[in-house]
Amino acid sequence: MKTITFNNRESSIIGMGTWRIGEGDLLKTQKEIEILKYGLNHGINVIDTAEMYGNGKAEKAVGRAIKNFDREKFQIISKFYPYHATPELIKESLEKSLKRLGTDYLDSYLLHWRGQTPLAETVAGLEAVKKEGLIRSWGVSNFSTDDMKELAAVPNGENCQINEDLYNLTSRGVEFSLLPYQKEHNIDFVGYSPFGSDNNDFLNLKDEVGDVAASKGISIFQLLLAWCIRSGEVLSIPKSSNPDHFVSNLQAIDVDFTADELELLDSIYPKPDHEEPLESI
Ligand SMILES: NC(=O)c1ccc[n+]([C@@H]2O[C@H](COP(=O)([O-])OP(=O)(O)OC[C@H]3O[C@@H](n4cnc5c(N)ncnc54)[C@H](OP(=O)(O)O)[C@@H]3O)[C@@H](O)[C@H]2O)c1
Repeated sequence: MKTITFNNRESSIIGMGTWRIGEGDLLKTQKEIEILKYGLNHGINVIDTAEMYGNGKAEKAVGRAIKNFDREKFQIISKFYPYHATPELIKESLEKSLKRLGTDYLDSYLLHWRGQTPLAETVAGLEAVKKEGLIRSWGVSNFSTDDMKELAAVPNGENCQINEDLYNLTSRGVEFSLLPYQKEHNIDFVGYSPFGSDNNDFLNLKDEVGDVAASKGISIFQLLLAWCIRSGEVLSIPKSSNPDHFVSNLQAIDVDFTADELELLDSIYPKPDHEEPLESI
């Protein structure tokens, strides 16, 4: 299975998204927990969650899923709201997340999106909880290249380890300057919503993509996921609560593309040739 160096560790090249899990009835949540456990048992060792997801319900479900796994063998990323981005509120949010997750540290803690709190204050808060050993690293989400540059200019801003943004075949604006910037500064890139989010609402797929998938003998979903991780430099975090979908997503990890196939996909969804406004969901 393809791997990636992520957060200074060797990791699976896909992680498990958790948005909208844990919000249904007991049986639905149990099924979602079983999928997370299946993933951990099959080499997927990154879980992406947030205090926002179901107002803590996703973190609670993750907490139940990880209970009997060796904590050192997988990574948990969680995120705090921009209106919890002061040092005091970061610590408070973090402690609540840790409690829901049933763990004593996060592998990374991200500012979910930019808000009103000055970045210098947020970074100071994150550095403080890192010093306490409550998080191993910190990062941001939904940051553009300009945001990343601004962040790098505040004290300790250069310690940012991760930026997590929307990335899929139909939303590839980050390729223009953000991915090269993060590579140059050794900041890991997490690409969210490889399938255009829930019910694929944010994906406008053209028919030709189906033809490429069919010619490779893979599903369109497998093509979409394999495409996101094709460079070996992006960690993609699909969410699935359906066992068949989940297994099919795992199979996508080892799908490769020929140069001709990539060129064909580029002709359907061209690489950005100028800076585009950052897209987000
Ligand atoms: N940082 C941020 O601001 C941010 C924003 C959005 C998302 N995220 C993170 O990224 C994760 C993934 O993004 P997402 O949840 O928005 O959506 P996504 O992973 O792009 O798509 C999820 C949707 O695709 C379906 N699906 C998954 N695999 C499939 C398959 N093989 N065949 C058919 N359908 C399939 C899922 O249904 P089933 O469950 O039925 O399979 C679900 O409806 C989130 O869960 C969250 O952790 C972060």
